[in-house]
Amino acid sequence: MKNGEVVLLLNKDESYIVKIGKDFNTRSGIIKRKDILSKKFGHKIKTHMGKEFLITKPTINDLIKKFKRGAQVILPKDIGLILAYTGVRPDSLVVDAGAGSGYLAAFLANYLSLGKVVTYEKDKRFVEIVKRNIKLSGLKNLKLKNKDVSKGIDEKNVDLVTLDLQYPEKVIGHAYNSLKIGGWLVVYSPTMEEVIKVTKGIKKWFPEIRIVENIVREWQTERTTRPKTMGMMHTGWLTFARKVG
Ligand SMILES: C[S@@+](CC[C@H](N)C(=O)[O-])C[C@H]1O[C@@H](n2cnc3c(N)ncnc32)[C@H](O)[C@@H]1O
Repeated sequence: MKNGEVVLLLNKDESYIVKIGKDFNTRSGIIKRKDILSKKFGHKIKTHMGKEFLITKPTINDLIKKFKRGAQVILPKDIGLILAYTGVRPDSLVVDAGAGSGYLAAFLANYLSLGKVVTYEKDKRFVEIVKRNIKLSGLKNLKLKNKDVSKGIDEKNVDLVTLDLQYPEKVIGHAYNSLKIGGWLVVYSPTMEEVIKVTKGIKKWFPEIRIVENIVREWQTERTTRPKTMGMMHTGWLTFARKVG
């Protein structure tokens, strides 16, 4: 392992995301930096109290748990739909705005292993949060721009533009111009009022739209098998539009 490397330490009771740099405290004792430096992914390591952990590479799902949250984020259930409904390829160019906490941007960049995501954020406070989160993620294909996206999108021949911000209607023309033919616009809207407003704007540029809500219900299997009483009841709607000419 190298200094600065981010690893997931895992056993059946505990898990930790650790950036290797100094000795690390777990609930079951200390893991020495010098010990972990001599290990590889897939190796096991013991704390000073003898508790064993597996050293694994964290996935994006592990890493985002350590992301600092500054704004409401788009959740994996909705990100899954963006990938599946647009069919965006791993070598694509994606423009995302606003970056917010960088959740959506990081998920997309993780999937686009041969491509690139450029995420726009106008608010300096969120820029600092996203910078931190990108650094933690280790993603090299995720670029942050401190820019108001309603003033324009610099990138051309874009495969996908994702918008999750106030007044997305101000960005639709820019998105259309930056997209390649066959490229997709996806707008995330938390309320139906926003969906209605943005779809009016989208219809001026794009011939067809598709509005989708993804309802995911988790089930419990302890004692009795049934849907969990508490859960995420609503996140938002996704409006999809494709540039065809
Ligand atoms: C709801 S958050 C986005 C969350 C993001 N999708 C995620 O998953 O982490 C909206 C963000 O858009 C930013 N924003 C709003 N208007 C913008 C604009 N015109 N240009 C760039 N960023 C903008 C806000 O500052 C805020 O950080």
